[in-house]
Amino acid sequence: MALSLLEIQQFLATQGSEQTALFTQANEIRAQNVGDAVHLRGLLEISSYCAQNCFYCGLRREHIQLARYRIPPEEIIRLAKEAIKQGFKTIVLQSGEDAWFSAEKVAHIISEIKKSKVAVTLSLGERPREDFQCWKEAGADRYLLRLETSSPDLYAQLHPGQSWANRVRCLEDLRELGYEVGSGFIIGLPGQSLELLAQDLKWLVDFEVDMAGLGPFIAHPQTPLGSHPSGGLDLALKAIATTRLLLPDINLPATTALDALSPDGRWQALQAGANVLMPNLTPLAYQQRYNIYPDHHEACSNLSFKAEHAFKERLAALGRYISTDLGGHKKASL
Ligand code: 5AD
Ligand code: SF4
Repeated sequence: MALSLLEIQQFLATQGSEQTALFTQANEIRAQNVGDAVHLRGLLEISSYCAQNCFYCGLRREHIQLARYRIPPEEIIRLAKEAIKQGFKTIVLQSGEDAWFSAEKVAHIISEIKKSKVAVTLSLGERPREDFQCWKEAGADRYLLRLETSSPDLYAQLHPGQSWANRVRCLEDLRELGYEVGSGFIIGLPGQSLELLAQDLKWLVDFEVDMAGLGPFIAHPQTPLGSHPSGGLDLALKAIATTRLLLPDINLPATTALDALSPDGRWQALQAGANVLMPNLTPLAYQQRYNIYPDHHEACSNLSFKAEHAFKERLAALGRYISTDLGGHKKASL
């Protein structure tokens, strides 16, 4: 539905019974437009090296106490194949900005995974257009690159040495190259007013994203923003719900960061407009070193597939089920 900036802001400010009504409405719109399926994306965090220095993130390059890792390409391929055997229809390869993973290395991994009939999503940060093109030709289907904030000024304050314009350039390149494009924002980022958050959501509409990742800010003590308060769970859920009203048929994950604020965070999101979950399939020994924010590892592991049965039952209790198709966005289905 079309909403003005002021209306978006009003939804974001709802409380009590109005907030509950917003979640209920978003849940209904989700059911009508994308149905009751929950799409699972198997996440592999392939490298914790990062050349960037974002003020909020535990993987920033100046966090020198962090022991870094890279999963060797052949191990990534093996892990992806195991995930496919378990039934995952989408494999997400995520990392910091790590030039060691050259275009060719990543293309090799993609083409090996694409020998199975699954979708490959990349979330490897900003790269030259040629890399995006090479990976598309190797078979990649989707790309996740959050804009983090739609304000070029706030972006400049939090991302030393990076440019908002280049990030938008990447997103435009990805779309032109035929990827399904996911973007999104951190909710409750220090310096982000409700007005700005409304503009963020409007940006998703204007850009016509296929997917939107919206998660709360979680303060990481070893970063420059470590002493700021974390974003609120309710605000993040309201942002997800309002995005469902704005973009009824996109893919909206219940983001992992929600679980860092409440053990039920992602379940609440699934009842407030979200239709995607991204279980973390990174082997624990690596996962422990991929701490974008504290509690990350703990929050993720509770969706381990040892708990699969209980998980499915819990979904069924919500009238939901695990999707068995690729779960692309309608406009750009595979
Ligand atoms: N809190 C919440 N989200 C964060 N990200 C990075 N650091 C934090 C944090 N402290 C998000 C960014 C990035 C994604 C991989 O993780 O939005 O795009
Ligand atoms: Fe690197 Fe991404 Fe973290 Fe920024 S948010 S420091 S680019 S991993």
